[in-house]
Amino acid sequence: MSSVAPVSVAPMMECTDRHFRYFLRQITRRTLLYTEMIHARRVLDPDRRERALAFDEIEHPIAIQLGGDDPVALAEASQIAVDHGYDEVNLNVGCPSKKVQKGNFGVCLMKTPEVVADVVKALMDAVDVPVSVKHRIGVDEVDRYEDMANFVEVVSQAGCTRFTVHARKAWLQGLNPRQNRNVPPLRYDDVYRLKRDFPDLVIEINGGIKTTDEIETHLEQVDAAMIGRAAYENPWMFHDTDTRFFGAVANPELSRHEAIEAMFPYIEKHLVEGERLSQIARHLFQAFNGIAGAKAFRRYMGQNIWEKGADTSVLARALLEVSRDAEFTSEPKIRAI
Ligand SMILES: Cc1cc2nc3c(=O)[nH]c(=O)nc-3n(C[C@H](O)[C@H](O)[C@H](O)COP(=O)(O)O)c2cc1C
Repeated sequence: MSSVAPVSVAPMMECTDRHFRYFLRQITRRTLLYTEMIHARRVLDPDRRERALAFDEIEHPIAIQLGGDDPVALAEASQIAVDHGYDEVNLNVGCPSKKVQKGNFGVCLMKTPEVVADVVKALMDAVDVPVSVKHRIGVDEVDRYEDMANFVEVVSQAGCTRFTVHARKAWLQGLNPRQNRNVPPLRYDDVYRLKRDFPDLVIEINGGIKTTDEIETHLEQVDAAMIGRAAYENPWMFHDTDTRFFGAVANPELSRHEAIEAMFPYIEKHLVEGERLSQIARHLFQAFNGIAGAKAFRRYMGQNIWEKGADTSVLARALLEVSRDAEFTSEPKIRAI
């Protein structure tokens, strides 16, 4: 199991797009990065495919998260994704949004482990990279530990050996996706128990993890920890993960200023290709989370990155709001998103 990444950044719609991932790579080279959920249909559509799948070489190791429930479509989409260079294919069995419910995929699939098993089989036949499943503790009334264990048993029999568990259940009615990330209580013990009951499977824990010290505590019980909101709210938390969790000899060791400056050539290339500064810079608001001057940095960014024709000079100016010496202590503040 030594090839398993012990730390990953979660798939998050509107957050973990290629630009945010590129920024994260200035901070950590080893942490496994997930795409936002991409529906299989989008990958199969030649007009939308390239935009959905494009990423930069520096983003490796990178896993694509697919949504859907049709084994044929998902298998074809995963093949295309792997041809594009993705290192892992992950199936979304955790999302409770209305749209997902209408399509009867995402967390709805926890009620039908056999369907997930069929999908996993199709994916494993289609690609030779690891196939993983991201799911929850349970959904609606199907929320006992035994239900989750049965789900994992059935899906693992189809060949899946890697499971990421968001350690709370979802309610399909009555809670919106945001509430479903905050209201149902975290049940870490159920995830630890899953690892004990399925020692040969790779079990990754997810939900509410905010610091690298917390990651370390979880890793005493499970194989890996996935970080969602905290990664977006405090990307700097990964600055020492390469050495601390992956045995790397060094971290990228750029300061926060340098990490943003290292983005400039990348940003300029994308501006030439017709993107707007805001599409990339919107992911940098939290770069100085907890550092003196962070508020002024955010204010300047908020007032200027949306202007037509804005370029990296806006970022260079925003960086002047934070002293280069101010960034050596961090007190992250995590908002609920
Ligand atoms: C804005 C946002 C978008 C999300 N989009 C996805 C998604 O596309 N696929 C998915 O499996 N989970 C998605 N999630 C859930 C996260 O991957 C993660 O499971 C959840 O936020 C709990 O982890 P955390 O407490 O570390 O944030 C999203 C979460 C947020 C906050």
